[in-house]
Amino acid sequence: MAQTEAVIDLAAIRSNTAHLRANTSAEVMAVVKANGYGHGAVQAATAALAGGASWLGVCTIDEALQLRRAGITAPILAWLYSPGQPWEQALAARIDLSVSSVELLTQVLVAARQTGNAARVHLKADTGLSRGGASVRQWPDLVTAAAKAQAEGAIEVIGIWSHFACSDELGHPSIAAQLQVFDQALALAGQQDVQPQLRHIACSGATLTLPAAHYDLIRPGIALYGYSPIPHTYRSYGLRPAMTLQAEVMLVKDAPVGAGVSYGHHYTTARATTLAVIPLGYADGVPRHASNCGPVQLGGRRMSIAGTVCMDQFVVDLGESATTVAAGDRAVLFGPGDDGEPSADDWAELVGTISYELLVRVGARVQRVYRGGGV
Ligand SMILES: Cc1ncc(COP(=O)(O)O)c(C=O)c1O
Repeated sequence: MAQTEAVIDLAAIRSNTAHLRANTSAEVMAVVKANGYGHGAVQAATAALAGGASWLGVCTIDEALQLRRAGITAPILAWLYSPGQPWEQALAARIDLSVSSVELLTQVLVAARQTGNAARVHLKADTGLSRGGASVRQWPDLVTAAAKAQAEGAIEVIGIWSHFACSDELGHPSIAAQLQVFDQALALAGQQDVQPQLRHIACSGATLTLPAAHYDLIRPGIALYGYSPIPHTYRSYGLRPAMTLQAEVMLVKDAPVGAGVSYGHHYTTARATTLAVIPLGYADGVPRHASNCGPVQLGGRRMSIAGTVCMDQFVVDLGESATTVAAGDRAVLFGPGDDGEPSADDWAELVGTISYELLVRVGARVQRVYRGGGV
């Protein structure tokens, strides 16, 4: 193995996608933004498409163009950008654009008229997240402008969409409230003959727990990669984590009782012991908050990080396992759990974050190793 590896099980991404697809009548948009949540955008997209996704979702136009350059022809929606993007290039590459405001629609229209490429847009309604999307007050104007542009042939409204604030909290009152606002936004658009083929609001949380919110298309991200937004529930939803983060033990050496370990000496050996040094640090995505608590599977046992996580490495106190661990052995930080290793959910709980952040932050220096075909 390489010194540090994120092993990506493409078969898991395929089967997670197929599982979600089998449980809905909606189409599946595989969300592969942020380098496919750290798994590799092109590889994740290819695996998800093989598993039954028919759409891809990304944030930036650059991310969408990267997929096109890799030869991916499936429809792609991009949804996060400031004004003044290379709209012409996006239209030429048949990238669907999310539009949240009349100002943005105007920019896209200029590009569409100039190039003669009708823009494929998804109008975004803010139904209660208070982030992207037109507010309830702005929505009628956006729909009116879109209806006019569509009549002119400069745009085609492919979708109307929104995003939940709390779909990972079963029964949260905001869910029903957002659905009501979404339905009102759809009805208002319908009154102006803006009735697109795709209505979509469900990310992984609603995909897994709320079939009534699937509409015409679901937009799962984290579930493709094997985790549920509700911590520690991925198994019960039939998902399998796709990433295993591991490294070779760099050095094994003795330490006397009372030795301060790593920066700041925030760990002190309680007895004469043996330490293992692992070449992964916060530059590789191991949170510094994992100091003195991050779990690691080593020599068949669950251990934890001793002392401060450094930029490039951390230390484990092997204690009684000293004789079973040698330099070059495999230390697993998280994975699907086949060998008793921790999950990204276990890490997230200990360091006060979510699985998403751990996956997406795995650094560029960590070699991605692809298993399970599909690329
Ligand atoms: C607009 C949008 N849709 C879908 C997703 C996928 O969310 P999840 O990973 O929770 O499925 C995201 C991710 O943040 C998003 O921003």
